[in-house]
Amino acid sequence: MCKDSNKISFNFSKDYIWSLTFFLKSLSITVFEHISDINTWVEEQHKQGRSVGFVPTMGALHAGHQSLITLAKAHCDVVVASIFVNPTQFNNASDLEKYPRTLREDLEKLSASDCDAAFCPSVAEMYPTGDKGHWDYGALSNSLEGFYRPGHFDGVLTIVKKLFEAVKADQAFFGEKDFQQLALIRRMVQEEQLPIHIVAAPTIRESSGLAMSSRNQRLNAQELEIATNISRILLRAVGQVNQSAPAAILEEARSALAEIPELKLEYFELVEANTFKPLTTKIEKPCVFLVACYLGEVRLIDNMIVR
Ligand code: PAF
Repeated sequence: MCKDSNKISFNFSKDYIWSLTFFLKSLSITVFEHISDINTWVEEQHKQGRSVGFVPTMGALHAGHQSLITLAKAHCDVVVASIFVNPTQFNNASDLEKYPRTLREDLEKLSASDCDAAFCPSVAEMYPTGDKGHWDYGALSNSLEGFYRPGHFDGVLTIVKKLFEAVKADQAFFGEKDFQQLALIRRMVQEEQLPIHIVAAPTIRESSGLAMSSRNQRLNAQELEIATNISRILLRAVGQVNQSAPAAILEEARSALAEIPELKLEYFELVEANTFKPLTTKIEKPCVFLVACYLGEVRLIDNMIVR
């Protein structure tokens, strides 16, 4: 892998390219690298009267992504998933470098989930000029993840808009696990009148309650056990909404997290679900408890919605 300040590219050997070519031929999924090719394929689907669903991902696929493919298949005639580790949404170079990259396994999983096409562009394909947009939607873009990861949402919205323009699907599917991201994508689609319908899917959890995330791959067995405290404490907070004021619930949840020395809490908040207005005195539904913390070097987020 070679790197300069803004660009990341991969140098593959001829043998690797050959083995990849044979591998791709063994899968029942069509893989596109270029915007013009995915565009032509989607246009062809539309000409044949088929609706197209789109599941954007950064790879390292788990059951949560597979549930999005299943949902997309239930809503649309054909489904495209993208696999692109988007450099502009990482505000920490080491986080980008350590992000799991498992392209072969991902393509196998997509193929097994009956996904019809995968769009796996290069950084140069998506960022020919290195451009990154800026969106200011008040608390929705500037609080919580927006505050703790400056520039992160500009990177997310930049790539999501580029991917929407590249794939031109009818519907796009996102998980509620990244709740603030989902709310921002909905807002961008509404404000900019982008011709796509957004469908949300519930967070998929391990039997321990831990929200599935590609980052969980970086946790050892002991850390996976510790991480289950996050959903346990969220669940307890949700169970208290009809009995206590938000401030008291939040204080109790933050103290419970502070008692676990391995977890370094960034935030545990309750906000109104559409505007992200913080709720401290009175519950207004729908609202959502959101939490972010570090476990070692791994940053984990989770949330629970109160409807
Ligand atoms: O949620 C993700 O995996 C990413 O943020 C997304 C939406 C694919 C954009 O890179």
